[in-house]
Amino acid sequence: MPPIRFAKVVHLMEAPVHVVAVAPLVAPELSVVVPTFRERANVPELVRLLEATLAEIAWEVIFVDDDSPDGTWRVAKEISRRDPRVRCIRRVGRRGLAGACIEGILSSAAPVVAVMDADLQHDETLLPKMLGAIRDGAELVVGSRYVEGGSQGDGFSKVRAWGSETATALARRFLDIDLSDPMSGFFMIRREKVEAVADDLSSEGFKILLDIVASSPEPLKTVELPFTFRERHAGESKLDSLVTAEYLGLLFSKFSGGVVPVRFLMFLAVGASGILVHLVALKVSLHAFDSTFAWGEFVASVVAMTWNFLLNNQLTYRDRRLTGVSFVWGLLTFYVVCSVGTIANMGVATGLFEMVDTGPWIAGFAGAAMSAVFNYTVSATLTWRK
Ligand code: GDD
Ligand code: MN
Repeated sequence: MPPIRFAKVVHLMEAPVHVVAVAPLVAPELSVVVPTFRERANVPELVRLLEATLAEIAWEVIFVDDDSPDGTWRVAKEISRRDPRVRCIRRVGRRGLAGACIEGILSSAAPVVAVMDADLQHDETLLPKMLGAIRDGAELVVGSRYVEGGSQGDGFSKVRAWGSETATALARRFLDIDLSDPMSGFFMIRREKVEAVADDLSSEGFKILLDIVASSPEPLKTVELPFTFRERHAGESKLDSLVTAEYLGLLFSKFSGGVVPVRFLMFLAVGASGILVHLVALKVSLHAFDSTFAWGEFVASVVAMTWNFLLNNQLTYRDRRLTGVSFVWGLLTFYVVCSVGTIANMGVATGLFEMVDTGPWIAGFAGAAMSAVFNYTVSATLTWRK
């Protein structure tokens, strides 16, 4: 049993100082990392549950809060003032579940870390069993809804359940991952295993477990334990469609061995929407303004390039968004880059079509691919340079 120290009662100028029980002075074996965004009402309850279930273990909990407007971090720090096993990192100017988990894990010195939701959906009574498995030699223990004995519970809509199953199937197919529940946000791992791949992890999106497993050079010795996914205690889910898009991006990026950056995929998606905009603008100028085809094409190209620029500035480069004078300058350089890209496209496509006789589809595709890569790489250095 670790020594327990009590603060002394002192009297400073008559003002009584409260007697505070200082927690055992032992370094934690287990850090529970809990990412939070707007979870104010759940934090005290989770701490109570952890305290009850981890009585035999030297533990700490690290809340990583992205400056929640409801003051979640304030609630967590209030508890820390009474209980040093509770810590809170308040991150400002950043958002993202995966990034928050990574920072929490890297802030810890405990040999073992766990990640779980703040909303009591993850069954905390599984933690001692998970730690048992780690002590017995496992490197990773995953709380799974899909092994014998586990279940999704009632907290999930049909659409979410379908989405989750599809995402799991894709991960297994493309990343060769044979976890039953790679989407799980509830797992425990030896900290050194995360430290080893910390550089390769994506801080966007939700899929931290999948990312760690896919990034590990050697397969991790893994145990899966069943649990029942409970209903959310208070507040609402933060998983939205942008998260789904980011997940697909992560999947492709990892599948390509990190060669294809997530940003390029976003750029491609924006480009695809630009094609639609181009066609609509062409139709409008031909019919409503009765322009010649050449003029119509010209107008449509300018409209589509402007559209692409705006969307890329808003989404693809949201971390380096251009404003004011740089916005205007960026738009002009983007026009130049895309125009050169178009010339390159035509050069490659006609060259293949005429000289190698590939047929129109392959030639057209190669031309488009060429200009996409060109536009992306050149605009990354000219338009949205760091
Ligand atoms: N710091 C931080 N920043 N925390 C976040 C953010 C963010 O941008 N977004 C969400 N969180 C926190 C939430 O406050 C919660 O504690 C936890 O991350 C999970 O978010 P939820 O909003 O509760 O996600 P969910 O319940 O819909 O999704 C859960 O189930 C999925 C399985 O399908 C999560 O456990 C996922 O990780 C899991 O993949
Ligand atoms: Mn949740």
